[in-house]
Amino acid sequence: MTTTTGFDVATVRADFPILSRTVRDDKPLVYLDSGATSQRPLQVLDAERDFLLNRNAAVHRGAHQLAEEATDAYEDARTAIAGFVGAAVDEIVFTKNATEALNLVAYTLGDDRSAAVHASATPLGEGDTIVITELEHHANLVPWQELARRTGATLRWYGITDDGRIDLDSLVLDETVKVVAFTHQSNVTGAVADVAEIVSRARAVGALTVLDACQSVPHMAVDFAALGVDFAAFSGHKMLGPSGVGVLYGRASLLAELPPFITGGSMIETVTMEGSTYAAPPQRFEAGVPMTSQVVGLGAAVEYLEKIGMDTVAEHEHALVVRALDRLSAIDGLRLVGPSDAERRGGAVSFVVDGVHAHDLGQVLDDEGVAIRVGHHCAWPLHRRLGVAASARASFALYNTEAEVDALADAIVVAQNFFGGR
Ligand SMILES: Cc1ncc(COP(=O)(O)O)c(C=O)c1O
Repeated sequence: MTTTTGFDVATVRADFPILSRTVRDDKPLVYLDSGATSQRPLQVLDAERDFLLNRNAAVHRGAHQLAEEATDAYEDARTAIAGFVGAAVDEIVFTKNATEALNLVAYTLGDDRSAAVHASATPLGEGDTIVITELEHHANLVPWQELARRTGATLRWYGITDDGRIDLDSLVLDETVKVVAFTHQSNVTGAVADVAEIVSRARAVGALTVLDACQSVPHMAVDFAALGVDFAAFSGHKMLGPSGVGVLYGRASLLAELPPFITGGSMIETVTMEGSTYAAPPQRFEAGVPMTSQVVGLGAAVEYLEKIGMDTVAEHEHALVVRALDRLSAIDGLRLVGPSDAERRGGAVSFVVDGVHAHDLGQVLDDEGVAIRVGHHCAWPLHRRLGVAASARASFALYNTEAEVDALADAIVVAQNFFGGR
């Protein structure tokens, strides 16, 4: 399948050997779970392997050639990743995953030493409000609950519309709001947030914005500076890169005011027995020997995506979503959990099928070779709000094909027939 932009999915798939394996009695694997974790191309594996075979050493500490080369490889990857998301190099902090990045922000914003980042120039506390949305993945919900608990601030949230978008009419921000944290693209409903509008509302009351970009950065061109968000987080393993590496973006002037999250080696300026001073960002937030080959692999993933072009990736995935919505909405007894049109919508397509529990559905699909996610997708409150205990989710990446979308739709019908739902 070659698109109008010349994107050839077959050539891309050749870079991902795992996609040509079979599962369950020799069925071709149809991998539709990239929202959970994506597959890695040979180019990423080669970059990690080359690093480990030829340049492996602890970064930022050795005086020998290998240590210098390892540090260069690590910092070159930082430069590539920063460029990919419209950030300056010192605005990119490596963490273990996006969850850790979000915890880093939530934790440090509650420290009294970060008073200067708040418009009031006072530490977060009673009388202040933290705002999230009902769409959030637990990774962008629980850390804010904890921050509220620790500081005495109040947690509030935007509700959602029945088709799974943030309902901007459901909450009015006021001067007590210090932080607004929200997902760029829902990992359940696929809805893409109106970032500009939320940022402008938050700014109007002096609140900081934190964007969970886990499901957007892998799928479309994202420029954090242009979006105007203050902080953002995303994961390597959802964007063709390794697991064990996440990224925190923070505006330089804000990172400079935040105290450390995890402390120890590599993040200090001076240390005496009585106390320490801390290095400038990003080192301040990268205590210990970092996940070096993973960062190098993520740099290679960025290079891979840039070579194809994020607009091309987005266009291809959009075509898959259009087809998925078309095929799935034609199935009797299937209800989409999320917008039924493809406007401002990304590649997570969730649904429930009358009379078939999501887990049973997942099992039959698996028997057909179709790998999807079932459950609450780490978004329990959202499922409660939508009145479903569990849903099934197909999520796409650049290597998926329209034939795989058809395989999904056909497998759902097989499940319905099996459970007598039709
Ligand atoms: C929207 C969203 N936020 C945060 C996360 C957490 O990512 P990680 O588990 O890599 O930290 C995920 C992963 O599923 C996600 O989909």
